Amino acid sequence: MAETLQKITDELRQGEAFAPFAEDPNLYAKKFYIESYGCQMNFSDSEIVAAILNEEGFGATRNYEDADLILLNTCSIREKAEQTVRNRLQAFRKMKEQRPGMLVGVLGCMAERLKAKFLEEEKLVDIVVGPDAYRSLPGLIEEAEGGQKSVNVLLSRDETYANISPVRLDSNGVTAFVSIMRGCNNMCTFCVVPFTRGRERSRDAVSIINECKDLFDRGFKEVTLLGQNVDSYYFNEGEGLENAITFAKLLEMVALISPLLRVRFSTSHPKDITDDVLHTMAKYPNICKYIHLPVQAGNTRILQLMNRTYTREWYLNRVQRIREIMPDCGLSTDIITGFCSETEEEHADTLSLMEASRFDMAYMFSYSERPGTLAARRYKDDVPDDVKQRRLEEIIKLQNGHSRESYKNDIGKVFEVLIEGNSKRSDKDWCGRNSQNKMVVFPKGDANLKKGDYAMVKINEATSATLIGEMINN
Ligand code: SAH
Ligand code: SF4
Ligand code: F3S
Repeated sequence: MAETLQKITDELRQGEAFAPFAEDPNLYAKKFYIESYGCQMNFSDSEIVAAILNEEGFGATRNYEDADLILLNTCSIREKAEQTVRNRLQAFRKMKEQRPGMLVGVLGCMAERLKAKFLEEEKLVDIVVGPDAYRSLPGLIEEAEGGQKSVNVLLSRDETYANISPVRLDSNGVTAFVSIMRGCNNMCTFCVVPFTRGRERSRDAVSIINECKDLFDRGFKEVTLLGQNVDSYYFNEGEGLENAITFAKLLEMVALISPLLRVRFSTSHPKDITDDVLHTMAKYPNICKYIHLPVQAGNTRILQLMNRTYTREWYLNRVQRIREIMPDCGLSTDIITGFCSETEEEHADTLSLMEASRFDMAYMFSYSERPGTLAARRYKDDVPDDVKQRRLEEIIKLQNGHSRESYKNDIGKVFEVLIEGNSKRSDKDWCGRNSQNKMVVFPKGDANLKKGDYAMVKINEATSATLIGEMINN
């Protein structure tokens, strides 16, 4: 198997033809199909799972009807996310009846949360594996092939999959996720992640740098460093503080690989993002000027109930620092409406914080109580659904206005855009993102550019989610 992997890797090194899916049945004895839900961490984990399965003789397929093994990498963040997975399982039920040999596995956060209960609730499931137990997949598959349902949901204090080289799934060959840490210690009261992903741990910096270098050598031009709270990255191999690698230091090390390799990261926590990180971002043109800084709510009492450990003023001060140090920095956020006991006035504080911060983009949700979390145990989920929903609509409406304005303000500006591929609408247009993470579409024209090239684009038009422009001579 190592040989076939080497063969694929060599093919990839030739550039252009990037085909991570092993469609050639001779390469692999069996096929697996994987679907990922939830955050980028889950998509990144699926690439680790793909690497583990390749070693076992399973090649990835895009067609689940061909698969010997169907995997769902699941999310528990809101009730709706879990419902989506349950509905999806229904779709596989019929097929399983026709092909009893086919195995169905559930990975990720829902697997961790529900554990063996999953097997009782969803009879078609054969394998349940939590986020820290993917190395045990080969053994679990073997058990399941022998007719024995199998579960491993052990959480770990040190697993980072550092030595596994992810197999890029569905990749554009230009941008890739690189996981730098796992788990979360923050215990926000609404959040299930500390329970499903366990304690926070940082991955060995050398393995991160090597993965990024390898991606660059293979033609990738952008890496996104992933963690639930990247600002608390900390790795110290030797004795003494001089060997300590903080997130700012790690960012710099990745940025120094090549000026042609863009660096992004997600997610930052407002309590931990340091001026050091902001100055490092400002210093290197290839560190993208974009920060996703989830605020969750604009009122200090609600922030306290959420255990976010910062105040409204602290957050606004962080935004101000970002604007001072990088006036052109893109900024986005996450917001939850209708958290336990939130009043109309407190909701209005969220609206006014949005006015003060002027986010370019936001992910907005109504509060969904998650079993086992601190909020579920301590507080009453007492804001009625229709009120949560109305508040959500209000923040969405406000944000839409802000987004439209932010995109409109870019008309006339010139941006460096990394070409990711054809635009969705037409193969005569390229699409890619600018440093601020905004999607830019522009005609290919006669210029002989390709995916992975940089282009200077002048913006002529804007919607609330796309900039439309034309290439200019550099
Ligand atoms: N680690 C990131 C967030 C990860 S979860 C951070 O701390 O910023 C992504 C987003 O989902 C959160 O920012 C929050 O806005 C939302 N979310 C998490 N739990 C939720 C819940 N119980 N109900 C509604 N939204 C939730
Ligand atoms: Fe959840 Fe808070 Fe950790 Fe983010 S920081 S993953 S919201 S507990
Ligand atoms: Fe969902 Fe787990 Fe990510 S709950 S958001 S997949 S860490």
